[in-house]
Order: sequence, then C-alpha cells, then structure tokens
Amino acid sequence: MERTRWYKDAVIYQIYPRSFCDSNGDGIGDIQGIISKLDYIKGLGVNAVWLSPCYKSPNDDNGYDISDYRDIMTEFGTLDDWKEMIAGMHERGIKLIMDLVVNHTSDEHYWFQEALKGKNNPYRDYYIWRKGRGKNGKRPPNNWTSRFGGSAWAYEEASGEWYLHLFSKKQPDLNWDNPKVREEVHALVKYWLDLGVDGFRCDVITYISKREGLPNGKWNIGIRGDEHFTHGPHIHEYLHALNKEVLSNYDCMTVGEASGVTIEQGLMYTAEDREELDTVFTFEHVNCDTIAQLLPCKLRFKQFKKVFARWQAGLRGKGWNSLYLENHDQPRSLGRFTGDYGEHRKEAAKMLAIAMQCQQGLPYVYQGQEIGMTNYPFKNLDEYQDVLVAYVRKVLGVFEKPLAKLVHKVFLIRARDHARTPMQWDSGVNAGFTSGKPWMPINPNYVDINVAEAEQDEDSILNFYRQIIKYRLGSDVIRNGLYKEFNTGSKDLYCYERSWEGKRLIVICNFKNKEVELTLPNSFAYSECSLELHNYGYDRKELKKMTLRPYESMVYLIV
Ligand code: NOJ
Repeated sequence: MERTRWYKDAVIYQIYPRSFCDSNGDGIGDIQGIISKLDYIKGLGVNAVWLSPCYKSPNDDNGYDISDYRDIMTEFGTLDDWKEMIAGMHERGIKLIMDLVVNHTSDEHYWFQEALKGKNNPYRDYYIWRKGRGKNGKRPPNNWTSRFGGSAWAYEEASGEWYLHLFSKKQPDLNWDNPKVREEVHALVKYWLDLGVDGFRCDVITYISKREGLPNGKWNIGIRGDEHFTHGPHIHEYLHALNKEVLSNYDCMTVGEASGVTIEQGLMYTAEDREELDTVFTFEHVNCDTIAQLLPCKLRFKQFKKVFARWQAGLRGKGWNSLYLENHDQPRSLGRFTGDYGEHRKEAAKMLAIAMQCQQGLPYVYQGQEIGMTNYPFKNLDEYQDVLVAYVRKVLGVFEKPLAKLVHKVFLIRARDHARTPMQWDSGVNAGFTSGKPWMPINPNYVDINVAEAEQDEDSILNFYRQIIKYRLGSDVIRNGLYKEFNTGSKDLYCYERSWEGKRLIVICNFKNKEVELTLPNSFAYSECSLELHNYGYDRKELKKMTLRPYESMVYLIV
C-alpha cells in the first residue's frame, strides 16, 4: 500500500464527544450530535477530525477506560450511528482519527474480569500482577505512583496480588510483553481500519513497555517510576511490529502521545525510515508555565519560543511535528499563553492562531478554540468532575481541608475540566449544547462567546480560523519552508521566518497586552512584500520598524 502521508497537508479538529453536541437531551454529547455539526466542521476548512474515545466505557476517565474496543459507548449511540458519522465525514473530505487507548483497559473489560477469576485464567497474564512487599505482602510491589496520585498498584484480596494501574484503579495496565496482548491490539486496530478509520491518536503510547523486574523509581515527592516505563526497553520493537503488520497496509496516520519525549526520542518514533509512528505530541511547550509539570507559574516566554525552534529544526526532513496549544487535558490557551488579555480577546486568540499555524507540522484545533472559549470560573473543589481531581483529594486525605484553598487555586489554572465544559453553540438555553441538563456546567460567558455570534461577526475568531486554515493549506512555504527565528531575545515578541524556493514568510506575533516596538533584521526591512494575514485590520502594508498594538500579529510574504 502506497502511503501518501496526507497528514502533511492536513489540519485536524479535535472533538471531545461528551462535550460537543447532545442530540437526545440526556445532557451528554453524542454521535448524532457530531453528525449534525459536520457541515460546521467542513466549513472550518479542516480535513481531518481526531475523536477522543467513543468506545464502550464505564467512564471513570471519560472514555479513556475502555470496556469494549469494538463497540460504541451507550450514551454516544450505536455502531450504526458511528458508521453514519464516518460516511458523512468522508463524503465531506474529512478523515477520521480515532483514539487508541491500549496502555490500559477498563477494569470492566472482559479480559480483566476473566483475569480476576484466578491466577490460572488465560487472561491473567494480559495484565501486570505482582506479590506485595513486606511480611504479608501488604505493601505495593514497588514505589511507582499513578499519574493521578497515590500508589500505581491496587490490591486484589482474592489472590493476594497487586495489579499495576498507571492511571486510575479502574484502568489496569496491559502487559504488552505478552504476545497475545500485542496480537489483540493488532486485531482491534485492523478492525477499525477495515471500517474506514484513517488513523489513530495513540494514548500514552510511550508507557507500554515496562522495565523487566519493575524496579523502584527514583525517589521524589511527585510522580515516581517514569524512568522504568517511559520509552521502555521494547517500545520500538512493539511499535515497529504494529506498523509492519497492520498500519503499513493502510494509507493511515498515527500520532503518539509522548509525554517527556526529547528530540532524539521523537526521531526514533517518527523518522520515516524507522516505520513506527508518523508524529508525536510533545509536551515541552505546554510545560513552560509549570514548575515540575505540576504547579502553575508565569509563562517562561523565551523558553517557550526556544522549544518551538528546537523541534522545528530537530524533526526537519526526518519526522513531522504536531502543533497544538489545546486539547482535552490542557486548560484553554487564552490567558494561559497571552496573560490577561482584557478587551483584546479576539486579537489575542488570532495571534495564537498565527503563532501556531505558520509552523511546519500538523496543526490541531481543539473544539471551542476556534471561537476563543476560555477557562471556567470554578468556585470550589466540589465543582470539578475530573477523576484526577478526585484522586488528588483522596491522596491529600486529612490534609485536604487545610489545603483546599491552595489546591483549588492550582486547579483553577491547571484543571483538565476547563477544556471539557460544553461547546458553546449559541446564546440560547444551555448554549445550544443540550436541551437537557448538561453533564458539565456551561461557561457563563456563552452568552457572548458562541458559534452563532461568531458567524454574524465578519471579524470573529472563527472567521479568522477559517481564513488561516485555508491559507495554510495552500502555502508551500508553510508546508516545506525552513524555520528561522528572529528577535529571539525579545520577551514580548515571537517572530520567525519560513523560507522556501526563494519565497519568505515573515511571522510577527506580539504576545503582550501592550504596545511593543518592532525592529527588523536588515535582511528584510523595507523589502517588497504583501501582507497575507493580520489580526487588526490589514492596515500595515509595509514591513518596517513599527510600534505593534496589543497582540498585534501579521504574516508577510516576500517573493
Ligand atoms: C491521556 C489522555 O489524554 C487523558 O485524558 C487520560 O486521562 C490518560 N491518557 C489516560 O488514558
């Protein structure tokens, strides 16, 4: 099968189905809801959708805990609905990327239910079981922690053994060292590809191979054990086999979620001649406003720019970057990367679009980002729905009460729930998301920030996204050009040039809510150029020394 690598000419829209659009009034988004919005998605100009998990699941972690890989979550509809959806996408020239969650299953999956039946059950070895430490084995087998907090092991009374769960207790880790597990994964990937799926976003894929003997992790206060299961000993062998045996028989694409990945490792996963994955999601840029990837802090702007520069250069000609600021695990980008944008919400959101969409790679737009949705004003810890928050509260135990204010302060900035409030379609009841009671509160700003309003406003963020996506998909400079940053020392401006076959694209972004002087390198000041994109009114025809307005951003083409 010839691989066209269509993902190099794509923009992906991510749908978190639970919060996208509810068609039957149960307060939960569903597949018929997605179908009703296919023309809207097409109208954005994207040519692919990444759909967060829609498989059968008891929803401990909103679908990232799968109990049947071959069927659809009851709340979302049926497999027939799903078939109607993918047909509708394909008719409109939109490809479908499904989430592939195979580091773990739900504890309600048949395999785990069988595994619980005893040590001799054939499915027992689908998971990772160990005896505990201490005299009577009542201490977990090692010191690894769950990504959500607390020990990564759960005790099972009946057998007196522990099973590993790097996420919630209801998400037991699969044992990829068992060839049967790998066969099962190959089969289920093939099942969806045969149904027409165009690719997969591979959930926490860098965790699937654990170091033999499961040694204790380095001690630290937060997360422990990473070094023994991130990019583990057999990861490349397992991914290569998946590619050779299944993926390479289809014209599909893959993106691996790769927390903690370096450029060298990124290349191991994505370099075309290695035949593993096509792209990875990296995290360095979204960690530039955190301490130890946990606590929020002010954006380290220069580091943020450097991260982009390193990845643009690092994968050039060998792999392919993923470009994102938002997804269902990240707080909203407005405010987070722009500081307090005051009355300049529109300019700030468009500026972020320019900063990302002009880089080389595959850009993602997360539902609501295209209308500038913002974080939710949570009032206290009880309002969060995320299993992660529940875990943290449990781990804190008696310290929760005295620390509640502080913990809330952290989540108010960092919580995953911010991205999961329902999509704001209009200013009517429940923002047009549902006619019932929404499963998550709707951001009260829906009255002003919603799709219907943005459709009326020629100058809206939505219309700007349509414009920039169209521009990007028609630009060989953006697709192929060499990336070179300028004004690197600026603490306010992010500026880069892309050059390809004699053409140069100059990208200028003011990240601050204030006026900033722009000085240009001599090599292109006063050059003949055309203003291609501008978030302010297309009144800067000449590329010269100027005072940029708050968040002012533009793209010039020098031919
Ligand atoms: C990453 C997913 O994006 C996140 O939402 C989920 O909680 C974990 N993986 C576990 O599957």
